[in-house]
Amino acid sequence: MQFEKIIIVDDDPIIRRMLVGHLQKSEIAALGVVNVRQAIEEHSKEPADLLVVDLHLPDGSGMDIMQAVKQSDSPAEVIIMTGFGTIESAVEAMKLGAANYLLKPFNVSQFDVVLGQILEKRRLCKENTYLKEQLKEESFVSDLRYQSETMSTIEGLIKRIAPTNATVLIQGESGTGKELVSRAICENSLRRDKPYIKVNCAAVPENLLESEFFGHEKGSFTGALQKREGRFELAHTGTLLLDEVTEISLGLQSKLLRVLQEQEFERVGGTRPIKVDVRVVATTNRDLKLAVEKKEFRQDLFYRLNVVPLVIPPLRERSGDIEFLLKYFLDRFAKRHNKPVLAISPRALAQLVAYQWPGNVRELQNYAERAVILCEEGRDLEYSDFTMTAPPPEAAGVTAQSSGGWDGVGQNGSFPTIADMEKELIGRALKRTDGNRNEAAQLLGINVRTLRNKLAEYEEGKKASVATE
Ligand SMILES: Nc1ncnc2c1ncn2[C@@H]1O[C@H](COP(=O)(O)OP(=O)(O)OP(=O)(O)O)[C@@H](O)[C@H]1O
Ligand SMILES: [Mg+2]
Repeated sequence: MQFEKIIIVDDDPIIRRMLVGHLQKSEIAALGVVNVRQAIEEHSKEPADLLVVDLHLPDGSGMDIMQAVKQSDSPAEVIIMTGFGTIESAVEAMKLGAANYLLKPFNVSQFDVVLGQILEKRRLCKENTYLKEQLKEESFVSDLRYQSETMSTIEGLIKRIAPTNATVLIQGESGTGKELVSRAICENSLRRDKPYIKVNCAAVPENLLESEFFGHEKGSFTGALQKREGRFELAHTGTLLLDEVTEISLGLQSKLLRVLQEQEFERVGGTRPIKVDVRVVATTNRDLKLAVEKKEFRQDLFYRLNVVPLVIPPLRERSGDIEFLLKYFLDRFAKRHNKPVLAISPRALAQLVAYQWPGNVRELQNYAERAVILCEEGRDLEYSDFTMTAPPPEAAGVTAQSSGGWDGVGQNGSFPTIADMEKELIGRALKRTDGNRNEAAQLLGINVRTLRNKLAEYEEGKKASVATE
């Protein structure tokens, strides 16, 4: 990145010549002018991306130029030069929006350093904008996708409850999309531009969870070296996701109940009540009613959370989504991994729809990615390309033998054992990576040492069988 046009504004011809000459050597269009009027005129005729401006000019101040530039829509930056060595005026210029300042006298290498700093700042700004866009894109692609009636009803509910401040409890098996639904609620709410904070109650050790929720005062327990804000404070004006809420101890449940009712709490070790305005969304993959019956979860808290219940059915109960999501993820991962989009054979599709999907959409998503990475081009995808196992015998009208997906001969006759599948999969990964063990291990999601050990085992096995022949 480089500047294209720079205007130098100084009534001192020595400075003008020095800077213009220096910039022209680097093939930057540089123009020298002597006063405020000329600078503003030239900049409005053909905007520069940087103006280097002396503070004291015959017809006014360099600040006037800076103000004019800032008021116009131009993204140009301004550097202020001052010959009187007054740091105060330079600092004042920075406060009013100057990108940097130069104290006279300076030489061209000092000038270059300042230009370099401004370019670096611009580069970081651009990178930041790009990353933000990428994040938006990510959340767009991870949007809730469905075709089933059930999910369409759930989406309707999300749209209705999102703009309210009601607490929402999302229940569903692992991988059904609870977190995605929680995000959708936030994105459709009036709090969409406010903080969205998450606490995974299952991942934080129990003794630290209270401080995670409410923060702590300095010295409130060993290790509390600094005052710390908790998640409720961070989520103020926004949304707080309590992921796996059933994992909270009974003691903390009563404190949670109080915040939900009064929107008020104290930090651990603190006495001052802190007021917050937080919308709470909670998720659980356990049956909360059952947890209440077992006295593991407070009934009053259950009612307080369950103002609007949302139950996401497991994937196996919404078969309309299985084919749709498979195709959606195959397409998405094909793009991500630069692979062609492959079709699924009709038989495999029937088998996949009959599959139980214990890991729900997360499992389906992982299978689709693996199939895209390992598939051989030029044929339709079969059941074993996804699951690496033989299809379930109960799959409508299909038997394990006739699956067609597994074509190796295992130790167990035509039905492969886990060890057979593992060997086959390692072979495929090595083929795909041209024998590169590091890449193959990455593809398989295992440690390269594990891969080496497995290969050594296979070698041993070969030797042993030759020896017995
Ligand atoms: N309907 C859907 N459309 C697109 N992607 C989905 C859908 N449902 C789930 N996913 C994806 O599946 C994965 C699991 O979803 P999510 O994390 O929301 O599930 P969860 O119910 O919170 O699971 P857990 O109980 O294990 O935390 C995520 O990568 C998510 O993007
Ligand atoms: Mg989750």
